Amino acid sequence: APGDPCILVIFGASGDLTKRLLVPSLYNLACDGLLPEQFAVVGIAKDGLTTEAFRSRMAADLRTFNTRKEFDPRAWDWLESRLHYTPGDFGDEEAYGRLKELVSRLDAERGTGGNLLFYMATLPSLFGLISEKLNGAGFKGFPGWQRMIVEKPFGSDLESARALNRELLAHWREDQIFRIDHYLGKETVQNILAFRFANELFEPLWNRRHIDHIQLTVSEAVGVEGRGGYYDRAGVLRDMIQNHMLQMLAYVCMEPPASFSADDIRDEKAKLLRAVRRYSPEVALSNAVRGQYGAGTRADGAACPAYRSEKEVDPGSNTETFAALRLFIDNWRWENVPIYLRSGKALWKRGTEVAVQFKRAPEVLFRGPTMRRMPSNRLIFHIQPDQGIESNFQAKVPGPVMQLQSVNMRFSYGESFRAERATGYEVMIYGCMTGDATLFSRTDLVEAAWQVAQPILDAWSGRPARDFPNYDAGSWGPVAANDLLERDGRRWYEVIDRETLGRV
Ligand code: BG6
Repeated sequence: APGDPCILVIFGASGDLTKRLLVPSLYNLACDGLLPEQFAVVGIAKDGLTTEAFRSRMAADLRTFNTRKEFDPRAWDWLESRLHYTPGDFGDEEAYGRLKELVSRLDAERGTGGNLLFYMATLPSLFGLISEKLNGAGFKGFPGWQRMIVEKPFGSDLESARALNRELLAHWREDQIFRIDHYLGKETVQNILAFRFANELFEPLWNRRHIDHIQLTVSEAVGVEGRGGYYDRAGVLRDMIQNHMLQMLAYVCMEPPASFSADDIRDEKAKLLRAVRRYSPEVALSNAVRGQYGAGTRADGAACPAYRSEKEVDPGSNTETFAALRLFIDNWRWENVPIYLRSGKALWKRGTEVAVQFKRAPEVLFRGPTMRRMPSNRLIFHIQPDQGIESNFQAKVPGPVMQLQSVNMRFSYGESFRAERATGYEVMIYGCMTGDATLFSRTDLVEAAWQVAQPILDAWSGRPARDFPNYDAGSWGPVAANDLLERDGRRWYEVIDRETLGRV
């Protein structure tokens, strides 16, 4: 069913996010009939565009960023006729006056019932200012619901995250704030909950008695790609681990929620993140490895410059572009099960995977001169670019003697579903339009995740890394990341790249 009637107001509409993701997502929703008839979009940004110019710019950009194979001109015409633009500086009250006039007129024309969705496609430092000006201009007086969508970063440490939350909560109720973590928009991430709780096969084994350890990998082949200014202040712990990876970890390890309602799910995620062991800075140091890439050659043969020579990066930068962590979840289910996380830029291969390593079955029946050491079962969620789930098990090699070999069972999205490619933002925008906050973060979740990351950040910021750069672009990261597992008698899995698993 289509979302609620509403007007979507995009702050920062002339920026990258709007053309790359928002408009293509709206178009995909329009193709699928998921936008309500009573709908309009108003873009606002500094650039002095007219509505006409905005429409033709978006039409041109859609040719580049459209995710679908076939273009549906009817869906696009429908959407294009609902796009509007008003120029304005976010600090200028008159701009909000003009915005309100336009929104009121469209509200009356389109019959959107005063439902307003504000998308903050701007720097977080502007969220407070924009919220205050919206209030000042009387936007709260509209009769319907009002919601706002914000993008990460939600602070750059625990303290700034708390300050940002206070600032938002001064203007909005918690249930009006929709914080996007785009990893939760990925089908393969959402499927983790379906896989765990809609099947009887694995969940009974999903605990410390049967699982040896878990690995989460988000490996990126790209470097910082012109975002050096932002990245050099962030680093991979803030950019990927504190948000996307801890969200995935929560899905993999949380308890079953009381229901699939947004708050029941988010309660369980928050509970899980609160149970992640909070290291002291000293202990953090021995459970975390950081890296920074030097020059190297990427898998595709292209030369990749050293991080320190990227644009807008400090030539003596101490920022980590790779991190590996060993975490523990101090609760009943996961006591003493190590959770290894790693993420980095300029690595050998792009791949996001969750590998769940089960304990070894008793080997007593399979010992003997012809037997090799028996591998244990492993379940892998291929999140991207391969999309699927796979598990190995032991089988008898045909022949007169008992010999074992590991074989695979696989599920591939491409083979099982004929889904159109999407941006991942469709489900988020749709969720916000219907008031379903399941895929969005909450104040307590954001703060719990920072509490996990903070001691590591503190430990690192107190000690400049002396060995940077410590891995070559196009490699698997610093050697110390292997040591982190090897001292536990374990090793990282390579990110498996199978042609047979459907690509994104
Ligand atoms: C963003 C980070 O949040 O996620 C980027 O800021 C990163 O640095 C990106 O490249 C990865 O997203 P995806 O969907 O390509 O895995």
